[in-house]
Formats: sequence, C-alpha cells, structure tokens
Amino acid sequence: MKKAKKSAVKSLDMATTAIHSGRHQTLERENSPPMFLTSSFAYNSAQQACDVFAGNEEGNLYSRFTNPTVTAFEERIAALEGGQKGIAMATGMAAITSVFLGFLAAGDHMVLSRSVFGSTINVANNLLAKLKIDVTQVTLRDLPSWRDAIRPQTKLFFVETPSNPTLEMVDLEALCQLAKKHNILVVVDNVFCTPFLQKPLDLGADVVIHSATKYLDGQGRVLGGVVVGNKELLLEHIYPILRNAGPSLSPFNAWVLYKGMETLPLRMERHCENAMNVAIFLNRIPKLTGKVNYPGLPGHPQHALATSQMKAYGGLVCLDLGSQKKAYAFIDRLKLATITANLGDVKTLVTHPASTTHSKLSDKAKKESGITKGLVRLSIGLESAADICDDLAQALK
Ligand SMILES: Cc1ncc(COP(=O)(O)O)c(C=O)c1O
Repeated sequence: MKKAKKSAVKSLDMATTAIHSGRHQTLERENSPPMFLTSSFAYNSAQQACDVFAGNEEGNLYSRFTNPTVTAFEERIAALEGGQKGIAMATGMAAITSVFLGFLAAGDHMVLSRSVFGSTINVANNLLAKLKIDVTQVTLRDLPSWRDAIRPQTKLFFVETPSNPTLEMVDLEALCQLAKKHNILVVVDNVFCTPFLQKPLDLGADVVIHSATKYLDGQGRVLGGVVVGNKELLLEHIYPILRNAGPSLSPFNAWVLYKGMETLPLRMERHCENAMNVAIFLNRIPKLTGKVNYPGLPGHPQHALATSQMKAYGGLVCLDLGSQKKAYAFIDRLKLATITANLGDVKTLVTHPASTTHSKLSDKAKKESGITKGLVRLSIGLESAADICDDLAQALK
C-alpha cells in the first residue's frame, strides 16, 4: 500500500490520540480507514517477493503476520498505553497465553495474582504445568507475599488491577520496583481500567495486555486482544508466537476495535460516572450497606490506592447477596440488564462469576479469590443511571 499521509500523534490529549493515532490515509483519500480483507499480499516480481520475505524491502507478507488494518489498531492502542509497540491477537486469552509462552521456558517460575480471570488461572495451572513452568499464586494486594514468592528462577509477575471480579488492587509502582530489583518482568492485564484510567507502563510495568473484547470495542461486537510494550522485547518474544503459532486478529475485528476506540475516553467517563451513582445508590439500601464492592466508595478498603493510581474508579460494581439462590433470584428479576459473561458493553450486563466466568476453578481456588456464591458482577452501561438504579431496585425487592 502506498501511504499518502501518515499522522504520528505524540503528547496530545487522550481524547485526540484515540481519534488520530494509527491513521494512514491511502491515495484514495478516504477519511475512515479501509478494511484490508486479504489473506496475503501480492508482488510485482519473484525478486520483490523474496526481498520482502527477507526483510530487505518493507511490506506485508501474509495476514497471519501483519495486515494494515490490524497494524492501525496496534498503533492506536500502543499510542494510548504509551508503549512503543502493540501486537494484536485474536482474543485476550491469546494475548495472555502468548505472553506466558513468550517470556517463560521450562524451569522458569511465575508469580501470579490469585485474583485474575478464570481462564488465566486455568492456563497457568494446566498448560504451564505441562511445560514444567512453576506458578505460585499470591494475594494481589499483599506486597510482602509477592516478595516472599520470589525465587532465583522467577521471571514474571502477572496481575490484573482492579481484578475480575473482586475489584482488588495492587500498588503497581511498588510492585514494579520490587520486580526491577530482581530482574522480573511485570505484565499487567489492564482490561478493567483501559489506558483512560490507568497506564501501567508509566508506573513501571514492562508489558500491558488487553482483552480488546471489552471496553476497547465497547459495544460487545467482536473478540480481540493485544500485547503492548517495548518494541525490541515484543519483537523478540511475542512476534514469533504470532507469526508461527498464528493467534492472529482478523482485519474485520481490528477495524471494529479501531473505530470503537475513537469513543473510548467518552465512554469510560460515562461508565465511571454511572457506576459511581449505582454504587452509592446500592450502598444506601440498608440490607446492602457494606456489601457493595466499588473502589470509588470511601468505605472500600483500597479506596485511597484507587484514588492515587486511577483517574476514576471504573465501570464494574459487585455486590454480595449472601447465597446463590438470592443472587440468581436478583439476576432473573432484572429487566434492563442482560445476563451474560461479557463486560464493558454500552448495555448494563450482569454475571454470576461463581457459576460462569470462574466456574472451572476449584472450590478452594474460588474461596481464596473471594468468589462467593452470592457474588454478582454488574458491568454498568451507558444507559441513564436513574433507569439502571430503578431496574436494580425492582429486582432487589
Ligand atoms: C480481565 C480479563 N482478562 C482477560 C479476559 C479474556 O479475554 P477474551 O475473552 O477476549 O479472551 C477477560 C475476559 O473476560 C477478562 O475479564
């Protein structure tokens, strides 16, 4: 492709970066990016094909490796996270698995937060065990337990902050300082915050991953994932996995994500505002007071950390209704909220983590991560906060 116009966006406000980063206008002068739905790329001669494959001439080879629409998405998320490079993946789990496989080898050790997405724990416990990679799980907020878990073979710390679904956090700067002292890489799953609320690379993390399926798309349409970080590091450890194992993002999905991100700052502001209103509303209901988990509530045990580390408190609100029976009855009575395992949609979504997203965890693992049978996760959407609260109130009666 001939690139007629390239815009490099640096040091602009995030609202501007979300719209102008990753733009490569072609000679057709389109103002919305084209979708390159092509499996492979064609050359003028056998010699040119050879030169592009050899890296002597710039160009795309095959969409498993690179594709211009996917590259545009990668550039946009890298610009937002403040990373040198993004490598897109088919899903968030593909990004996480690629990070594990790319940075760890037999005999290595990883320290993993106990409070992470269910499939992340399953990949760590099952796949990595087969590869003779040892994993120690620790309590996310408990920094001394991270320090105590370090061994000479420890190569990686992996965290989600805030975590899914318990909304627990860790002091990222302190964790990264500890890791640096021991030459350990820190990988942060930034799904719940997005770069709008928290930029882990600025706080010392080495790599950020996303399930782009969530807030980056923002409308519950497509699956996607991405790994962001230092260019050299990702080209050495992550790109060979993409190229050879092939967990590649489709150009169609990349286009949807690229366009979705244009409204990310606006959406995140409204998600956070609505979630705060919902949390305050729920916490004022006498039987729920103290059972509403939202980092923005002053009573949240890590409210001070959330205030210093994040721009706002996120779009997820959790509440514990005491038993599975009560949780199910509440979920089934909701009229506006959709019962689904996703999050980060414009619509308000409701999930019972213990029997869906985290159902494959053992009872012990669920207990250790605080995933009780009464726990309900609400992903607060962009509807009117008053309408969301009315729906919740009628379902609680
Ligand atoms: C925090 C977090 N990380 C990773 C994932 C996995 O993402 P995907 O479903 O795109 O593979 C999820 C999915 O819910 C998630 O919530």
